[in-house]
Amino acid sequence: MNFKTTDEQEMLRAKVRDFAEKEVKPIAFLLDKENRFPDEIVKKMGKLDLMGLPYPKEYGGAGLDVVSYAIAVEELSRVDGGTGVILSAHVSLGSWPIFAYGTEEQKQKYLVPLAQGKKLGAFGLTEPEAGSDAGGTETTAVLDGDHYILNGNKIFITNADKADIYVVFAVTTPDTGTHGISAFIIEKGMEGFTFGDHYDKMGIRSSSTAELIFNDVKVPKENLLGKEGEGFKIAMSTLDGGRIGIASQALGIAQGAYENALEYSKERIQFGKPICQQQGISFKLADMATMLRASRFLVYSAAELKENHEPYGMESAMAKQYASDSCLTIVNDALQIFGGTGYLKGMEVERAYRDAKICTIYEGTNEIQRVVIASHITDKVSN
Ligand code: CAA
Repeated sequence: MNFKTTDEQEMLRAKVRDFAEKEVKPIAFLLDKENRFPDEIVKKMGKLDLMGLPYPKEYGGAGLDVVSYAIAVEELSRVDGGTGVILSAHVSLGSWPIFAYGTEEQKQKYLVPLAQGKKLGAFGLTEPEAGSDAGGTETTAVLDGDHYILNGNKIFITNADKADIYVVFAVTTPDTGTHGISAFIIEKGMEGFTFGDHYDKMGIRSSSTAELIFNDVKVPKENLLGKEGEGFKIAMSTLDGGRIGIASQALGIAQGAYENALEYSKERIQFGKPICQQQGISFKLADMATMLRASRFLVYSAAELKENHEPYGMESAMAKQYASDSCLTIVNDALQIFGGTGYLKGMEVERAYRDAKICTIYEGTNEIQRVVIASHITDKVSN
């Protein structure tokens, strides 16, 4: 493998970095403190063509590639992990299943406004009794004439009450396991569709996470995504791509913490010299730089496979698992380099330390990533 980003991809990085530095960084501390979703920032991300970045122009997207998308999530997360996941959940989870499995009518009606940044997307899979075991979905959808009637709850949903369009999974044929699950496109405002309270989270506090509640929600038959019974495969293939987004988020959070620690270590004098010249600190910095390089290769190469329509499920799980485990090590060492100063509220490294943890949990815990990787290398899954 000989991976190198193109000039166009690096131009995109420069554009997103500039936006993140000028618009997101100055308010990231307040968003975190107030547990506040950045509505204005998300609107501006739409104007910058980020919200439909990897989708064709004919569907309202920017027509760029998956590596560019990974770079955009990375650059936002470099200054604020919460803003990074807003984009990732919207592009990878809310929009992609409609792009990949939607009818032309569904794409025109839902994908176009999502990709144009006029609407925000979300993905409803997780339930109280169906976390890692996504096949244990209990939400039901019962066909009644021209509508399905949806009942159930989805928890830990990123973008939740801020979104407009949701891809939601429900059981249409009970007692048939994963083959009985179907996917639906749900719109905010459908009668009986409400939200729980915005969770008070440890990190990524600028992103909105809440419960979706479906109480006899009438969903038109034409909002079935794919065929009845295809829902689990739609969810799994969506997560294959979503994991590239979370890997990019972890990479960005780690990169930001590393840069801050490196700069600080050059300025902080102890024992008569900058601490970066003390071997104990320089070895930490060396390990951080190595892990970042390895993560970056894993993330971009998984993205490139996806772009080239080659199998990427195992590679995206590897990227997500490695980049997020490394991110935890990197933010921990970065905070260690700052010492007591890094432990103070208001320090970027303190926020990065809290933001990092979720990357090993959502879109499949890192234990589940290992299940996915192992099932590929032992030939259980062929894609
Ligand atoms: N693509 C397509 N099909 C797939 C697939 C994939 N990646 N993975 C599995 N399948 C198919 C299998 O081929 C199988 O098909 P058949 O029955 O026709 O042979 C079927 O799906 C069932 O597969 P498994 O037997 O492997 O399913 P399982 O019940 O053992 O579960 C699992 C597998 C990998 C553990 C899965 O449940 C899983 O990924 N769990 C984690 C869920 C997760 O990631 N949740 C994240 C929620 S979203 C989120 O976190 C968003 C956020 O906040 C930002």
